[in-house]
Amino acid sequence: MNRRTLLVTSALPYANGPIHLGHMVEYIQTDIWVRFQKLRGHDCRYVCADDTHGTPIMLRAQQEGIAPEALIARIGEEHRADFAGFHIGFDHYHSTHSEENREAAEMIYTRLRDGGYISTRTITQAYDPVKEMFLPDRFIKGSCPKCGADDQYGDNCEKCGATYAPTELKNPRSVVSGATPVERESVHYFFRLPAFEQALRDWMAEGGVQAEMRHKLDEWFEGGLQEWDISRDAPYWGFEIPDAPGKYFYVWLDAPIGYIGSFKALARREHLDFDRYWAPGSDVELVHFIGKDIAYFHTLFWPAMLIGAGLRAPTAVHCHGFLTINGEKMSKSRGTFIRARTLLEHVNPEALRYYFAAKLGPGVDDIDLSLDDFRLRVNSDLVGKVVNIASRCAGFIVKRFDGRLADSLDEPSLYADAVAAGLRIAEHYEAREYNQAMREIMAIADRANQYIDEKKPWALAKETGREAEVQSICTMGLNLFRVLMSYLKPVLPDMAGRAETFLGAGPLAWNSPELPLLGCRINAFEPLMTRVEEAQLAAMMEAAAEDARAHAVLTGTQAPEKTPENTAMTSPIVTETATAIPAESSTPGPLQADPLRPEISIEDFAKLDLRIARIVEAQHVEGADKLLQLTLDIGGEKRNVFAGIKSAYAPEDLVGRLTVMVANLAPRKMKFGLSEGMVLAAGPGGKDLFILNPDTGAAPGMRVK
Ligand code: 2FM
Ligand code: ZN
Repeated sequence: MNRRTLLVTSALPYANGPIHLGHMVEYIQTDIWVRFQKLRGHDCRYVCADDTHGTPIMLRAQQEGIAPEALIARIGEEHRADFAGFHIGFDHYHSTHSEENREAAEMIYTRLRDGGYISTRTITQAYDPVKEMFLPDRFIKGSCPKCGADDQYGDNCEKCGATYAPTELKNPRSVVSGATPVERESVHYFFRLPAFEQALRDWMAEGGVQAEMRHKLDEWFEGGLQEWDISRDAPYWGFEIPDAPGKYFYVWLDAPIGYIGSFKALARREHLDFDRYWAPGSDVELVHFIGKDIAYFHTLFWPAMLIGAGLRAPTAVHCHGFLTINGEKMSKSRGTFIRARTLLEHVNPEALRYYFAAKLGPGVDDIDLSLDDFRLRVNSDLVGKVVNIASRCAGFIVKRFDGRLADSLDEPSLYADAVAAGLRIAEHYEAREYNQAMREIMAIADRANQYIDEKKPWALAKETGREAEVQSICTMGLNLFRVLMSYLKPVLPDMAGRAETFLGAGPLAWNSPELPLLGCRINAFEPLMTRVEEAQLAAMMEAAAEDARAHAVLTGTQAPEKTPENTAMTSPIVTETATAIPAESSTPGPLQADPLRPEISIEDFAKLDLRIARIVEAQHVEGADKLLQLTLDIGGEKRNVFAGIKSAYAPEDLVGRLTVMVANLAPRKMKFGLSEGMVLAAGPGGKDLFILNPDTGAAPGMRVK
């Protein structure tokens, strides 16, 4: 087999929020493919990075009162930890805010400019006169020009579905400052995409995109390619355009270039030749995995930019669909928005890796994580079939034969069939037909279990003089288990590692099964995977719901439906949304309307019954990660409140303190009991969460005016 060289990427997650299970579909899909290539002996490298520029990150950093560098460093750490938790084996993980990426972006831009592929023209855009910045469409809200619905974004109406220009909105206001936007002109830089139509058609004909995406590309060609606006005016968080002071590269320009930036950092460490990977005619396969929502960027802009800059185009762009949970879109308000971290805290991540593998095909269909199906599937396939083979056979070998395997296989033809299936399984992995690969692998597991059932080593072990048969049957079973673990290793790297320790014969490679383990010694069997229990999943869902509630409290939203994190991968439009940006707190100057809370009248405000409360008791809530249970005294009357402040306070810090509560909030039934009000707190969250602390002259029960 010839040894291929591959450079593989997943889309760069936006550094404005946490990794969630929708993201994980892609990282797991890519990681399985990369691990498979490596296991086959190919020279395969996997790079990725955080996507760190753009307006949402600039504003969020301002609102947290920190530098954008500090924000992206923090989020970058969280992303890396989550990926490590799911065993995503990047060869390098970088940041688009890096010198390597700046160099690459400048190189590509200058080459495009010198090639005549950049044009400039003046455009008119909405401008926030208070914040002194141009406003992306998603940062303008107002009433829909068609149906009149209030509080609609500048590009489309969520009520009636109309799309329009932000200038058409009635009563428009800036989401950032609340000011009425004005129109202002400025010069923008455009990438001349239409010049690449033929080159893109030729590239598409090489077969690197799925049939579904080819049809989409045809539609885009039919509709006519448009020049792409690649500049943004200051203030903007990104790279300044070399020959255009005060103009910055739009985040979507330097995001895909981040693949090159990350590669450059890897190349320096591993002494790889840049031109071998990136020059036209390269023999290296450049393979991108992305969500279907960002296909336009990866099948039009990105190959055109590469070609225009005299670099090679991608070998393949593989799109996947979105993730639904129990058949519905992930949603904070439904409590089905599950962060990667939340799953890691409750469930073995390899269970999810296996489940996604069992569901993923090569197309762009959405996949569903149905929690019951997930539990039943993992328990039945991995625990009930695969691990079961090893646990049924290991005991006999270890206890009766001092860990030594027999010198020959009991049924060589059965073993040969399992080895031969490897060819088909490899083809399925290669074609991203993981669902088919898992089906074939489980068919081997079924035959292995059937074999053990028929041979009944436990019965033979009770008869005298049949030791050799028992040893031979169990050797056969353990070798079939070894075949299974070789084929499952791309999906279950951690479990495969433990199986390798148990089998004691070194790391499993794809072709290890060709030579069965005979006459050697194995180690004692340790459980390789435990069942996923209903209670674990219930706790995970409760934690996800708690997260959503905490988010709603911190941002003042009603556990919003439409947030950037709500899609499997955020679309370019949604990336520029403001819903996840906490209230401005660090900007000096006149008080501004909080973009995230609707304006209320004085009558609305008067409805709030805010009271001074004394915390008379505080305790941990069993099974809740974020909640403390507080007993509040509001002047003779006691209230039970569950407050999401555990990240910042220990119960003993709180007892005896005065604070402020909303006393007339409708009681809410929670899993842990009834919550009869809400304690007010300020801050971005985590450790930086501060309950209000009235002057000691205040007394419980006093109204807050
Ligand atoms: O959609 C997103 O979340 C983007 N951050 C993906 C960027 S992929 C690549 F272009 F960098
Ligand atoms: Zn409307």
